[in-house]
Amino acid sequence: MDKQDVPVITLDGPSASGKGTIARLVAQALGFHYLDSGALYRLVALAAMKRNIDASDEQSVVDIARQLNAGFRGGSIWLDGEDVSDDVRTEACGEYASRIARYPALRIELLERQRNFRKLPGLIADGRDMGSVIFPDATLKIYLTASEEERASRRHKQLMEKGINANITDLIQALGARDERDSNRSSSPLQQSEDACLLDTTGLGIDQVVARVLDMYAEACKA
Ligand code: DC
Repeated sequence: MDKQDVPVITLDGPSASGKGTIARLVAQALGFHYLDSGALYRLVALAAMKRNIDASDEQSVVDIARQLNAGFRGGSIWLDGEDVSDDVRTEACGEYASRIARYPALRIELLERQRNFRKLPGLIADGRDMGSVIFPDATLKIYLTASEEERASRRHKQLMEKGINANITDLIQALGARDERDSNRSSSPLQQSEDACLLDTTGLGIDQVVARVLDMYAEACKA
């Protein structure tokens, strides 16, 4: 069986648009595999931070990616045999990941790793360039977004639940800066591709968004 025969749903969009939550639930509903591509960039960032490598040191960052010993088990994320699920979710790690994500050599290094997640019965992949670069032949491409205020307030809630204090105004500013960087880099920038369906989740609950994605997938399979 060719990889091309394995169905893929891509979910791209800006930070804190709810991609991870939705992708996980859709994967569960369909029995699909799940690729959290941002976690790969975050793992490279974490490995580099642990070695005190500066984000401007492109060659060292690419070397780290080449040797990356990453693991995804259940919902947890591993680096060199250590569960780093919480460490990769920090704002500092996301910030570092966004800074190194502009290196074309890093993106090429991570390309096959991401495509290897494509296995039967199917895959849902979330990130920035899933539909545009990694799985251009996906069965369904979705661009998921929400207003900046709503995304900041979701991120705020997530952080508070983890006992991390955060200020909404600072979060709005940080999200804006990250989106700006992710959208304006020359290599695989975040943008809604022409063949992606826009799904604005502002004001929608998680169950409503999941149901909408499942409907869109059922439609795409008929086409
Ligand atoms: O989705 P996330 O916040 O976990 O991603 C962290 C950073 O990684 C994000 O700011 C940009 C980068 N990224 C990317 O460039 N391409 C992807 N497919 C996924 C993430």
